[in-house]
Amino acid sequence: MKKKIEIEIIDKKQIPETEPERQYYFMDIAKAYVAQLAEKKGAPLTFHVTTFGCQMNARDSEKLVGILERVGYVETATEEADFVIYNTCTVRENANNKVYGRLGVLQNYKKKNPHMMIGLCGCMMQEPSVVEKLKESYRFVDLVFGTHNIYKFAELLVTAMESTSMTIDIWKDTDKIVEDLPVERKYSFKSGVNIMFGCNNFCSYCIVPYVRGRERSREPKEILREIEALVADGVVEVMLLGQNVNSYGRNLEHPVTFAQLLQEIEKIEGLERIRFMTSHPKDLSDELIEVMKNSTKICKHLHLPLQSGSSRILKIMNRHYDKEHYLELVDKLRAAVPDIALTTDIIVGFPGETEEDFEETLDVVRNVRYDSAFTFIYSRRTGTPAAAMEEQIPEEIVKERFDRLLKEVQRISAEKAGVLTGQTLPVLIEEVNGQDGTLVTGRLSNNSIVHLPGTAAMIGKIYPVKLLECRGFYYVGKAEEA
Ligand code: SAH
Ligand code: SF4
Ligand code: F3S
Repeated sequence: MKKKIEIEIIDKKQIPETEPERQYYFMDIAKAYVAQLAEKKGAPLTFHVTTFGCQMNARDSEKLVGILERVGYVETATEEADFVIYNTCTVRENANNKVYGRLGVLQNYKKKNPHMMIGLCGCMMQEPSVVEKLKESYRFVDLVFGTHNIYKFAELLVTAMESTSMTIDIWKDTDKIVEDLPVERKYSFKSGVNIMFGCNNFCSYCIVPYVRGRERSREPKEILREIEALVADGVVEVMLLGQNVNSYGRNLEHPVTFAQLLQEIEKIEGLERIRFMTSHPKDLSDELIEVMKNSTKICKHLHLPLQSGSSRILKIMNRHYDKEHYLELVDKLRAAVPDIALTTDIIVGFPGETEEDFEETLDVVRNVRYDSAFTFIYSRRTGTPAAAMEEQIPEEIVKERFDRLLKEVQRISAEKAGVLTGQTLPVLIEEVNGQDGTLVTGRLSNNSIVHLPGTAAMIGKIYPVKLLECRGFYYVGKAEEA
């Protein structure tokens, strides 16, 4: 059978068995293949990585980009590229459907480009039914891999290039964490940092524990080493990533708490801002609140998913906290960090949710007054306990509740926007404004967006900015003399 793409296959001798050496070995081979193909094409090969889903996926995509660039591919802004990867999400049905829709478009590009390869990875690939469907109806896809073996991307890329058919490699779970692979950051001055992988919480609606596997924490020294290297490379803000950062470190050989890790990170000279997500209310400790209170680097913003305001529903969701405990946490947080911005995630229409349950959610929303909230319509995910529950809520009722919730959330956010007007506060400048080139855009510690006159030279630096007025959800300001 004909190879998918025309390359001279390289004989492999003494493939290293240890990681990451093995992957660097395969990067060299991939590099030789990419060079062969580029010569035939008469131009460098291009790639495009499209990311769906959360910040974990965004960080994983940076790892894919790091490897692709190292083997000689050049990034391009469109999906009409020689290598396109979709890093997928399956947390809700609509995230999942988007991918199938777009694959049809990719197939057309592929018909026009003999060099083109298509790769699929991420959470959706961990579902056996998805892989079956791809095998049946999407034979033009070249490479399929999952969340646990993403570190093996270089090796899988080589296999796919040499293969005549679809390369599929999905692991059910892993206890492995491979350090020190190349990664290409999207921003020069800020970076996500994984502190843990997977999730052990099994909230009854959620598919993440099934597709991301069991919780694994990275060693504190590896995390600190990574952040130190990032800071040496110009990073001033890190976002610590995990599905439940508050349970970080529990199953390390020498257990460490998240609060202790934060205190170590705080000591890194040159690092200016620390963010983290996601916090699970059940594990948010007083120790953490105390550390946040005393920190000069931890940002004044906490994303604290509520999911539901009804203690009855929270119990069936397997969230391990109730309405009262959640509200108590909010009080403690506000007492410790008075101007902290609070954001949340809320699910509407969980099986069995009554009008009274929904009213409890509205009650928490009015009580807490979130700066912003992500609201989701419950999506039935095959294999989760909630999917099998009777009393799935009819669509019209869910839609109606969703609209009411959204209105309330938006009304409160609008009321809260602008509370800092008149103050002078530090702003990290992130980019030149897309609409008006005389302006730059940055963020306050509480994550609010600020536009101010400035130039590209300011990007990545923190300036004291006077907040002159609030328009909608952002501030307009002016940099003060430092
Ligand atoms: N680990 C994080 C959230 C990860 S998923 C946490 O525990 O908060 C991001 C958000 O997607 C969740 O907070 C939840 O609100 C939403 N979500 C997860 N599963 C969902 C489902 N089946 N239907 C609708 N929303 C869901
Ligand atoms: Fe899903 Fe719950 Fe884990 Fe968050 S904590 S990823 S909602 S199971
Ligand atoms: Fe989606 Fe996976 Fe994140 S399912 S939300 S990309 S962990």
